[in-house]
Amino acid sequence: MTRVLDPQLKHALAERIRFYNELGIYDFYRREHSEAAEPLTLSVPQIQPEQREPMTPRAKAAVAIPADGDLFEVAKPESRATNPAQALRLIREDLGDCTRCRLHKQGRKQIVFGVGNPKTDLMFIGEAPGADEDQQGEPFVGRAGQLLNNMIKAMGIQREDVYIANIIKCRPPGNRTPERDECETCSPFLMRQIAVIQPKVIVALGAVAAKTLLAINAPMAELRGQWYDFRGTKLAVTYHPAFLLRDPRQKKEAWKDLQMVMKELGMPVPAKSAE
Ligand code: URA
Repeated sequence: MTRVLDPQLKHALAERIRFYNELGIYDFYRREHSEAAEPLTLSVPQIQPEQREPMTPRAKAAVAIPADGDLFEVAKPESRATNPAQALRLIREDLGDCTRCRLHKQGRKQIVFGVGNPKTDLMFIGEAPGADEDQQGEPFVGRAGQLLNNMIKAMGIQREDVYIANIIKCRPPGNRTPERDECETCSPFLMRQIAVIQPKVIVALGAVAAKTLLAINAPMAELRGQWYDFRGTKLAVTYHPAFLLRDPRQKKEAWKDLQMVMKELGMPVPAKSAE
């Protein structure tokens, strides 16, 4: 339901949002409230004035708030971009040398942002960088990546035609499963990548990607083989390539998932995969 805000309150909120933008905070959550005359509140961290740091040049560039439109549509740096590749670069810049979660001090060599065609119809999302990805700064470049490349080739396209990213952008120590708070801290950047790329189809690779994106907890066998709506984009779930390396018998099931994706994208569907 659209609510008209009192202009004074709107101005005060705009000022408050500008302040958080200056601190590099762009994501706000609207707290549900009753229709009774409760004050409208924004769930944002409480920061004391003495904790404020001087405005950085990047923050200065990012504080523009649209004069019209929804007040909660806070202008993100990428809104200045004129094309998706530039928008992705601005998101990467905004991520910086990220220290938002514990992983930055747990041995990560570099941030693994994402790779591929910024205008693609098809996006693959994995879990987290492993050792090879951490070393090279690119997702899916190790053994699981080789299998993913083969899966993509079997679809009749190349790795360069799609976009590949992970739920989190830093390698967890010992390749452990990402913690929930790490996913929650990092995934807003992935959401922004998705919003820029606007793929027609997202393929979630494995349980961590599927459960994080869909916020549902179910076994992989139940999750795959059907379509989900992810913020207006079709999303399919399939097995993670690392799992397929451990249990190659499931490759034929993964191939069924990819055939479903190809059909949706209007791609010619070969009967057999090129394993
Ligand atoms: N596994 C993932 O989930 N992502 C990678 O980038 C590599 C391995």
